[in-house]
Amino acid sequence: MRITVLTGAGISAESGIATFRASDGLWEQHRIEDVATPEGFARDPALVHRFYNARRAAASAAEPNAAHIALADLARAHDLTLVTQNVDDLHERGGSPDVIHMHGSLARALCAACGERWDAPDSMSPEDPCPFCGRTATRPDIVWFGEMPYQMERIWEAIEGSDLFAAIGTSGNVYPAAGFAQHAAHSGAECVELNLDASFNARDFDRRILGPASQTVPEWVKSLTP
Ligand code: APR
Repeated sequence: MRITVLTGAGISAESGIATFRASDGLWEQHRIEDVATPEGFARDPALVHRFYNARRAAASAAEPNAAHIALADLARAHDLTLVTQNVDDLHERGGSPDVIHMHGSLARALCAACGERWDAPDSMSPEDPCPFCGRTATRPDIVWFGEMPYQMERIWEAIEGSDLFAAIGTSGNVYPAAGFAQHAAHSGAECVELNLDASFNARDFDRRILGPASQTVPEWVKSLTP
């Protein structure tokens, strides 16, 4: 079966990584326009680096949970395209061989001046020179609000060719990812949502499996694996 899975912060919540829109989530404690926009970075790059340095430390201290591991099993049994909005590497560490990080990755650095990318050190600062061009415009390789998510062509193509689309642990607030279910449905895929509670775009799904991802995802994967 051809399957596209989209994951969001909810799949990493039980690994101890904060989600964005929970009452104690990241966007309650930080202003999006300060830490997750190109304008915020231009205004105060040190603040933005501190925010992502803390998130990078939290991600490397975390371990993949049963949901991440189950998706690696799913890739062994089916033709799976795994797309994540998450910037942690828990899918990779859970064994998934090919992960599309549509919102970028904490593990990578990007030069805003020349566009080159390289492996991010544990801690980044605005004074870090680009190893390619030498200029000091180093930023985390994260897709901020107002920027184009990565690998969209490959994602649309996978969705259009899928028999099944699943969204796991995402609130359905941020486009284009929030539009994937509708596009998958129009392309003839069955759409299933696995989430703690119904998402913002819940009406776009044929089926809903509610509960913590570490329980629901392994059971769902088992139901698809002979
Ligand atoms: N199991 C399953 N789902 C969970 C769990 C869990 N243990 N814990 C929380 N959730 C669900 C919440 O109910 C919520 O619907 O995960 C979802 C998390 O939603 P958000 O915090 O909005 O995260 P996400 O959807 O990934 O955000 C999308 O917004 O600001 C950005 O770029 C950032 O990639 C992010 C994007």
